[in-house]
Amino acid sequence: MNIHTYEKLWLVAAMLLIVTFIATITYGSVGLGIAMVGDQQPTVEPTELSDDERFGDPRVEQVGENEYEAYVVAQTFRYQPDPIEVPEDSQVTFYVTARDVIHSFSIVGTNVNTMAIPGEIAEMTVEFDEVGEYGVVCNEYCGPGHHDMEGELHVVPAEEFDLVDHSVDTPTEVEPDDEAEFTVEVRNRQLDDLETTVVLEVGDETFEEELVVAGGETAETTIVVDTADLGEGDHDWTITVDEFEEAGTLSVVDPDAEDDDGGDDDE
Ligand code: CUA
Repeated sequence: MNIHTYEKLWLVAAMLLIVTFIATITYGSVGLGIAMVGDQQPTVEPTELSDDERFGDPRVEQVGENEYEAYVVAQTFRYQPDPIEVPEDSQVTFYVTARDVIHSFSIVGTNVNTMAIPGEIAEMTVEFDEVGEYGVVCNEYCGPGHHDMEGELHVVPAEEFDLVDHSVDTPTEVEPDDEAEFTVEVRNRQLDDLETTVVLEVGDETFEEELVVAGGETAETTIVVDTADLGEGDHDWTITVDEFEEAGTLSVVDPDAEDDDGGDDDE
């Protein structure tokens, strides 16, 4: 069979085009390292987020010298945590999921823009070199409050950044012959151990307790105050742990005497 030269040329050109198309599509989908959120990603049960080790407590955690992980939950119509705080010169890996419907997690002015899908965990790593504040917005219509759904990301100076949380559990009223227990819990989301001192001032007395909290751990200390030393009445107290301070009042009240004493209400 005799094929005309031009026809041969066209055949070869058409073959080349087909091969080029296939090569382009293959390169575009696997060669650039672009990953889609899909069934290859780890998943999470959206109805049980509260019990999840990562998303039950949305937070930022230190995982390396300048490396942090942020666990973010999007829900109608807010983000947790908010604001997200990270230090300057850090590399942050975000893990984002949604509690209820599809949202997005988009950091304005950066190329971070991912869908937040219930059950899926979107992951992306970003470097923050300079101090600044960014808005976080939702780009997926998620309900009547969609246009109000926003959060903040703060990149703070290294010296102002810390990953230590404090909480206190204190009594408000005790009987004169009882003990008052002041419990302070310190959570250390940094890698390094934290050595600190818990100071309780109540009435004229000062109590100090050394506390070492291992990296990534939580520790608590309880200071027991004998109310016999304080005497009846109201006593102001202050708990100080580094920069953290909380104050309140402890009432030492004899329940038997309370009924006879009607005069208190006049004040
Ligand atoms: Cu969330 Cu739109």
